[in-house]
Amino acid sequence: MDLNPKLILLLLAALGLAGISLRRYLHTRQFIRRHNCQPVTRTFNKDPFLGLDILSGTIRAIKDHQVLQRGAALHHIHGNTLKAKELTSTIILTIEPENIKTILSLNFTDYSLGHRLEPFRPLLGEGIFNTDGAHWAESRALIRPSFARDQIADLTLLEALSIGTLKKSQGELGFADAFQYSQQAILTRSLLGPLNAVYRDRKAEECDRVCREFVQEFVEEAVRAAESRSEKEKETGSETKHKRIFSHELASRTSAKERIRNELLNVLLAGRDTTASLLANLFFVLAKNPAIWEKLRDEVAVLQNRPPTYDELRGLKYVEYCVNESLRLHPVVPRNGRKAIRDTVLPLGGGDDGLSPAFVPKGTVVAYYTYAMHRRTDIYGPDAEEFRPERWADGALRPRWGYLPFNGGPRICIGQRYALTEASYVLGRMVQEFRELESRDPGPWEENLSLTVCSRNGARVGLVR
Ligand code: HEM
Repeated sequence: MDLNPKLILLLLAALGLAGISLRRYLHTRQFIRRHNCQPVTRTFNKDPFLGLDILSGTIRAIKDHQVLQRGAALHHIHGNTLKAKELTSTIILTIEPENIKTILSLNFTDYSLGHRLEPFRPLLGEGIFNTDGAHWAESRALIRPSFARDQIADLTLLEALSIGTLKKSQGELGFADAFQYSQQAILTRSLLGPLNAVYRDRKAEECDRVCREFVQEFVEEAVRAAESRSEKEKETGSETKHKRIFSHELASRTSAKERIRNELLNVLLAGRDTTASLLANLFFVLAKNPAIWEKLRDEVAVLQNRPPTYDELRGLKYVEYCVNESLRLHPVVPRNGRKAIRDTVLPLGGGDDGLSPAFVPKGTVVAYYTYAMHRRTDIYGPDAEEFRPERWADGALRPRWGYLPFNGGPRICIGQRYALTEASYVLGRMVQEFRELESRDPGPWEENLSLTVCSRNGARVGLVR
């Protein structure tokens, strides 16, 4: 009997694929038995193949600026841990504090941010925000000393509140505009995934170049400053007194210019829009709550119109509660995710009732919706949708991993204390200066969602002395 060689090849390939699938199936079955876990089965998708049934709802939510609200509603209806189809891939969504603790801390090494590297690389290169493993650990060690207490307790820099953004020259593509566009392009690349191979955005390339060149000037200056400082110290044999400047500090720890530039861009991306969004969200809500402003005025009266010291600032408890509450109701990093790099387990969410430990197959993205978790009524009570700073009083509320504006575990936000100091200082000083804060925006808070989320209409307010 004559056998067609093409047919034989086809048969062998089919057998090979079947073998791989069988091995994978047996391995999964054994893993599930050994760990006493169940696959996540709860879902809101009716189309189990591509998840196309939810597409129209997603598009409507994007148009109505209600993506976050929709995500919270889906969890509310279907459960705290769900699986969802996103075209060809299946992701797991969770708003379970114990699961998030497991991803970010207990089983930290089972997950990676590998999916973040490529979309961010054209702007950030490789740095603390988009790498894993040894590269990330080195970045973290390089940057951490700059966020020590003595570095952030110096509030004098914050007193000059204006950063002169309204003075920029017209016409040319300024850094701020370029940085904005480059961030939008990151989001597009993240969504396109493998399609990036055939996608090109020349404006994004130009903006990335503008940003890198802008930062490069600071790198050159920092390296020169670090060299001259080290020469002086060699001459005198003692440490010279100097103002602490982040780029100079980095340059004193490494002379690799590309590394300094990348880390500066990484930290700028992580720290700029986040703190700005927090302030805009906070002032938007405060302007609609005169009674809270009044209470803040009472608290800061103790300072008798002097700018507060770092310790005095930390003593302003109601200021702290307002900032906490803004980050709860409008967490500026409202959703996040990690990719499993091996088969692993979450403590909750498996099986039809969602109560068994959940199986997470290697390669699955586990996304967590901080925005939705922060509105869980079983954690925050029936008024979880309300802005009520008093809920933080006396330390009675202890949501632990149920409150996560800055993430947790080894990759917890390195600028957390700095950002809270900055935001509290701005709030405290504004309260001191202005008797009333009035809303000039009749509508409710609406999302403007990109890498972070901020108030779509900014914070249109009137200030009365
Ligand atoms: C309200 C302000 C801020 C919020 C809500 C915030 C939130 C976060 C969150 C949620 C992450 C984790 C991201 C992830 O791993 O997926 C993060 C990481 C980070 N943040 Fe912040 N952040 C804020 C301000 C800042 C500031 C002011 C800086 C620095 C000046 C900063 C520097 C960083 C860095 C470098 C990381 C990456 C840490 C790592 O991966 O090891 N952040 N931040």
